[in-house]
Formats: sequence, C-alpha cells, structure tokens
Amino acid sequence: MRKKILILGAKGSLGGQLIKIFNADCEVVVWGRGEIDITDNELILKKIKDVKPDVIINAAAYNAVDRCETDEQEFELAKKLNGDAVGFLAQAAIEVGAILVHYSTDYVFGGIANEANNERMKQIKKQGGFKEDDKPCPVNKYGETKLMGEQEIIKRSGQGLKWYLIRTSKLFGPKGESELAKPSFFDVILQLSKKRDCIDAVNGEMSCFTYTIDLAKATKKLIDENYGYGIYNIINSGSCTWYEAAAELFKIAGLNVKVNRVSADKFPRPAKRPKYSVLQNTKFEQLRSWKEALREYLGK
Ligand SMILES: NC(=O)c1ccc[n+]([C@@H]2O[C@H](COP(=O)([O-])OP(=O)(O)OC[C@H]3O[C@@H](n4cnc5c(N)ncnc54)[C@H](OP(=O)(O)O)[C@@H]3O)[C@@H](O)[C@H]2O)c1
Repeated sequence: MRKKILILGAKGSLGGQLIKIFNADCEVVVWGRGEIDITDNELILKKIKDVKPDVIINAAAYNAVDRCETDEQEFELAKKLNGDAVGFLAQAAIEVGAILVHYSTDYVFGGIANEANNERMKQIKKQGGFKEDDKPCPVNKYGETKLMGEQEIIKRSGQGLKWYLIRTSKLFGPKGESELAKPSFFDVILQLSKKRDCIDAVNGEMSCFTYTIDLAKATKKLIDENYGYGIYNIINSGSCTWYEAAAELFKIAGLNVKVNRVSADKFPRPAKRPKYSVLQNTKFEQLRSWKEALREYLGK
C-alpha cells in the first residue's frame, strides 16, 4: 500500500526536494504556511486528524540565526516555531499513530568549542565530530530554540511517539520558493564572484555541508527500510572551513577567483557561531562526499 506522507514547510529548500523524492511512490500531501500555521496547536491536531498521514515530515522552521539573537520578538517566534510547534506535531503524530520526522542542526553543539583549552572538545575532535548521543551545548539563541524542539520529541519517546530526529548542517541545493528560504553559501559566493575576482572567506567554523537532494533521499531510506527510531546525524561526508569550501567551489566551477583566508573577526555577526560543529554519522550509511555532491549541483 502507498504510504501517505504529509510534508510541512513545503516551499522551503529542503521541503521542495522532499516532495520530489517522496512523490515517486507515495501519496504526498503538501502544506506551506498558507495551508497551516504550525504554531496553532488546535488547527494542527484537527487538520492532521482529517488527513491521517502515515508519516509527518516537518521541514518548517525559523532559520534567521542573527535576527533572533538580538530581537526579542523574533526570539519568541523562533521558540514557538522551533520549540513549541514541534511538540504540537509530536502530540498529533501520537494521536494518529504517524511517524514524525523532524530536522535539527549542528548548532545545538559547538558551545564547548568556543571555550578555551577544553579537554572535552579535544576528545570530540579526536573521535571525528559530535556523535548522535553527545550532549548538546548550543552557542546561540537559534541553537537553543532548535534544542527545545529536540527535547519536545525526545520527552515523548516513551509515550508512543515514532520518531526520527535528523541533525543536519549547512544545506545547499536548489533554493526553495519560500521568501524565507535563504540562498546557500555556495550560491551567495558564486553570485559575489560575478562582481569580484577576489573573495574573503573565514578559515574556521569547521563543519559539514549537506546537499538537500541527498538528505531527502536519506530521509526516505530511513522510513522505507524501517531504521530504528531515534537521532541521526545526516550530512555529506567530509568537513571543511568556509575558506576550504569556497576554494573547492571555484576549483570545480573552473572559475579563476582568488580566495583569501580571513579570521571570523572580519565578519562580525550578532549571533556567535560554533568554532567547530562537525557532525559524525555513526548510525546511517555514509553519504557521498560534499565535493562530489557539489559537482552534481554545479552540473560539472
Ligand atoms: N538551511 C540550513 O543550512 C540548515 C542547517 C541545519 C539545519 N537546518 C534545518 O533543516 C530544516 C529545513 O531547512 P530549510 O533551510 O530547508 O528551511 P527554509 O528554506 O528556511 O524553509 C522554512 C519553511 O518553514 C515554513 N514556515 C515558516 N513559518 C511557518 C509557520 N508558522 N507555519 C508553517 N510553516 C512555516 C516556511 O513556509 P513557507 O513555505 O510558506 O514560506 C518555509 O517553507 C529546518 O528544520 C532547519 O532548521 C537547516
């Protein structure tokens, strides 16, 4: 029997790719902000009970990392969307017996990376990154709100919730239709390179990139192959700094753009970023390298 999949955040960058992948052999119901405000608990419950999906995939989120750091109202909205709403969806999933898939971020980690001489951090780096069961430690308010969402799910795991919590990092791929969807780092610097032949990039903030098409396929595989419920770190293989990513981009694209290594102080931003937030995938098959995925994205 064809599974009924409800996708929320349908016009977002990941949401758009999820629709394409699941459309292949599932009945897909797609809701954007126009169809549902996921911070409305009563409406969620009512609409989800009407649809009775087998799987609810939540790709909706508040992603304006810097805005919610300094603006109190925005922080409240971020807590509602990334925290409370995840609890509403989890409760609705329990009531209709659906699996809930939700995405979180490497930014739930990284706080400890910003402390000096940290023994725990040395251990994390030695083990190859943050594992699924490492203790979160956000470095900014956005990370705090995403951690709230994680906790909404985890606290219901003993109450019959069937769940996949997928942590991912630095998405790239076709930009979603939503006005909230951000262009990826690669799109931004490709755009910049049209105006400049020399670009500054931070040689730090080591982390992983993730191609939305690979993440959407991995999400489907988790469900189709009945992987055990729980937390998964799903990212493309390999880690890099922004500088290394920019240099690789221009190499693959065959563009003669000089990339200067600069320190993070050159780009002050309201929200702190983790100095190191590499995710390690110990539970799911390794995805191809980010370089190979980037080649495909660039059509090279
Ligand atoms: N982007 C990254 O680099 C990154 C990194 C790590 C983790 N993640 C996580 O990955 C997931 C997907 O991210 P993304 O970049 O694809 O997101 P995105 O492009 O920013 O899209 C966000 C979506 O959320 C929807 N939305 C916002 N407020 C809503 C509300 N009140 N009710 C219902 N929907 C609402 C928007 O709806 P409309 O379509 O109607 O505008 C939009 O489709 C998120 O959980 C994000 O936190 C992303």
